[in-house]
Amino acid sequence: MKLAIFGTGYVGLVSGACLAEVGHDVLCMDVDQAKIDQLRAGTIPIWEPGLQPIVERNLAEGRLRFTTDTAEAVRHADVQFIAVGTPPDEDGSADLQHVLAVAEEIARHMPAYRVIVNKSTVPAGTAEKVAERIAQVLAARGEAIAFDVVSNPEFLKEGAAVADFLKPDRILVGTRSARAQERMREIYEPFNRNHERTLFTDVRSAELTKYAANAMLATRISFMNELANLAERLDADIEEVRKGIGADPRIGYHFIYPGCGYGGSCFPKDVQALGRIADQVGYDAPLLRAVETVNQRQKNTLFAKLAGHFGGPEGLAGRTVAVWGLAFKPNTDDLREAPSRSLIEALWQHGAHVQAYDPVAMDEMRRLYGPRADLALASNKYSVLEGADALAICTEWQQFRAPDFDEMAALLQTRVIADGRNLYNPERLRAAGWHYYSVGRPA
Ligand code: UGA
Repeated sequence: MKLAIFGTGYVGLVSGACLAEVGHDVLCMDVDQAKIDQLRAGTIPIWEPGLQPIVERNLAEGRLRFTTDTAEAVRHADVQFIAVGTPPDEDGSADLQHVLAVAEEIARHMPAYRVIVNKSTVPAGTAEKVAERIAQVLAARGEAIAFDVVSNPEFLKEGAAVADFLKPDRILVGTRSARAQERMREIYEPFNRNHERTLFTDVRSAELTKYAANAMLATRISFMNELANLAERLDADIEEVRKGIGADPRIGYHFIYPGCGYGGSCFPKDVQALGRIADQVGYDAPLLRAVETVNQRQKNTLFAKLAGHFGGPEGLAGRTVAVWGLAFKPNTDDLREAPSRSLIEALWQHGAHVQAYDPVAMDEMRRLYGPRADLALASNKYSVLEGADALAICTEWQQFRAPDFDEMAALLQTRVIADGRNLYNPERLRAAGWHYYSVGRPA
């Protein structure tokens, strides 16, 4: 099938490449000429495992093309995906201006029936706004062209987005239009090989499901972080508690890892936006607020532990802290809302120097903070430790799981580790003379 996708960001590009991979004829449109030129040359602006070969192959075989020409994209296909950003506006609500602008463009150029599929994360009721906007433009054009607006939210995880798209748990399609359902069924048929994964719902429920899924996962994390803080005060071990509750199939082992807070472009934004949605309909949602509050506090936990070790925040002035892991999670270079940034900014505020290392996020770090006297970027996990007073671990990259502790001890001034991901055995480290602080385990 012919498909057009507006927006070549994370969701748009992965979706476009994967839809081409199963044989569809995909035209991706973006207003950013430089980005489109790059993509045409096969250069991918994001770091995502497995994406590069798929883009290259489908470009070479002509199933995946890129354009900045809106009219061309709208003519190309009768199914038009919107996958542009919905950044938080000043009060944390999802900003719909890009989604609505694309809807207008589609309406301006559509020659005949179109299915407009919204993949961006948007509040319940957005499909209706999109439909209204399209109807207005069509009315101004004096055309009576039929169209349907479908909600088809994405459940991709960064770092595993290609696999998630090609082997989805579920494909959520919000529309009651039989005509649109038929088109969507055909598009996703190749992903339903072993069993049916497509769930058809009404539009608003599909829109709300996306927020519900992310808010539920974020709630589990904040709940575990709250319990971890309690465990520290009760001299219990949250890792034991985690296994103990995870064994209950109603709870399960996924997404109950305590840590230094959740980050990324989705959880913080979506939990906030769902809170604003509740405000707008006059519903008090204390649980959502608490999820966010607990997370904000948790992002401070590594700083608090380091400050505790050095005799209070003032004890950090003039010290050097090495940081392992900057990305908000492994297998991405994404630093949006990353816990590492809260730590590093707090360290700077208190006069400490930071030496940082991440296997892939160094360029992104440079881009965000530029050159600074209190930041040194190292080229590997050992050199970053040289002369530092302590090590803080913010991301659980595989290469940090079994390091050479003797080599580390030789490079660091003092044997201090604040581990935001509970990577090591506390007893073993303590026996080797380390001050080892982790999350929710006896210090
Ligand atoms: C999240 C969801 O997992 C995806 O299903 C969803 O499609 C996506 O948002 C989105 O809305 O686009 P992502 O933000 O890529 O995906 O990352 P996650 O793997 O969910 O991790 C989010 C954060 O939670 C990370 O900072 C991670 O370290 C933290 N986390 C995760 C924990 O602290 N504990 C856990 O047990 C799991």
